[in-house]
Amino acid sequence: MSQCKPVITVDELRARLNQFPRLSLADLPTPLLDCPRLSEALAGPQILVKREDLTGLAFGGNKVREFEYSIAPAVEEGYDVLFHGAASQSNQSRLTAAVAARLGLKAVMVGRKDAHAEPVNGNLLLTHLFGAEVHLIESAEEREKVIKRLKSQGHRVYNTSSDGYYLRSVSYVDGFLELWEQLEAQHIQPDALYVCSGVHTHVGLAVGARAMGIPLRIVGISPSPQKDAAKNAQLAEVANEVTQMLKLDLTFSAADFESYGKYAGTAYGAMTPECREAVVLAARTEGLVLDPVYTGKTFGAMIDHIRQGQFTASQTVVFVHTGGTPALFAYGNEILGTS
Ligand SMILES: Cc1ncc(COP(=O)(O)O)c(C=O)c1O
Repeated sequence: MSQCKPVITVDELRARLNQFPRLSLADLPTPLLDCPRLSEALAGPQILVKREDLTGLAFGGNKVREFEYSIAPAVEEGYDVLFHGAASQSNQSRLTAAVAARLGLKAVMVGRKDAHAEPVNGNLLLTHLFGAEVHLIESAEEREKVIKRLKSQGHRVYNTSSDGYYLRSVSYVDGFLELWEQLEAQHIQPDALYVCSGVHTHVGLAVGARAMGIPLRIVGISPSPQKDAAKNAQLAEVANEVTQMLKLDLTFSAADFESYGKYAGTAYGAMTPECREAVVLAARTEGLVLDPVYTGKTFGAMIDHIRQGQFTASQTVVFVHTGGTPALFAYGNEILGTS
């Protein structure tokens, strides 16, 4: 792969990253795993898995790396409640609760009373275990009521979704440097990188690659249905905020991003045949555990692209495993095909 001109040296980029306050939460660097039996099963390229599911804390995942940066301001500024609200099987809620426990803060989760809320299992079980105050609700107003009540009681509430938003991508600029160092040590120049595209991990990796002058194809797979062009524009907007925070002479546009919503199926969290196949194949060829909401769908997309012939056996693809594995225990029937 040819190299473009880097806009900054690795040392200078590291120095700029070091200027942000940072918590110590993750076991880093995470491993880079070669998956030869998986490659053989697909008659495809070399597949390397960046094990962000092994960031350590509370079953790991990309949020542990992100929270090192994004929750640091909460500690510096004296917030006493870490708040999160999403699906009942939210990984972010699990890790919000685990980080609050580690920091001695109160955690409050307002989750949706959705199809995976009962029986209490997976991420929801762990969120309870870490001592969070858990509310399962049916309407958004109930969520606002909980926040209002906490504030009226004098709590300072840090929402781990919206507060520190851009810092979560900054963490994956750092994650990119870590990955690239591992690849360079093995003299590997990958032909593509697959990652679940919420927002933050995808953007951070893209900014890291461009900053280093590496024209890497980064394929983002959304866990939710989306309009791809609008999503790519959103990713570019976030990337431009991050480049400003890091004072990088770089501008992104929607054309710099490649993301797909079509592998999400009918809705966020809905099972698809491709996801089920991916979860089972990774488990049975490599003993690798994927999750049913994020990484299973991303892996399914990568398999689809390999079967379309997008990669030859002499090429290398990196899959970023962003974690989420506890949700598997709430999706047993869907994964084993009994529902
Ligand atoms: C397992 C997993 N992968 C990927 C994502 C996407 O995260 P982000 O937008 O922070 O990159 C999430 C978000 O909840 C997740 O839980």
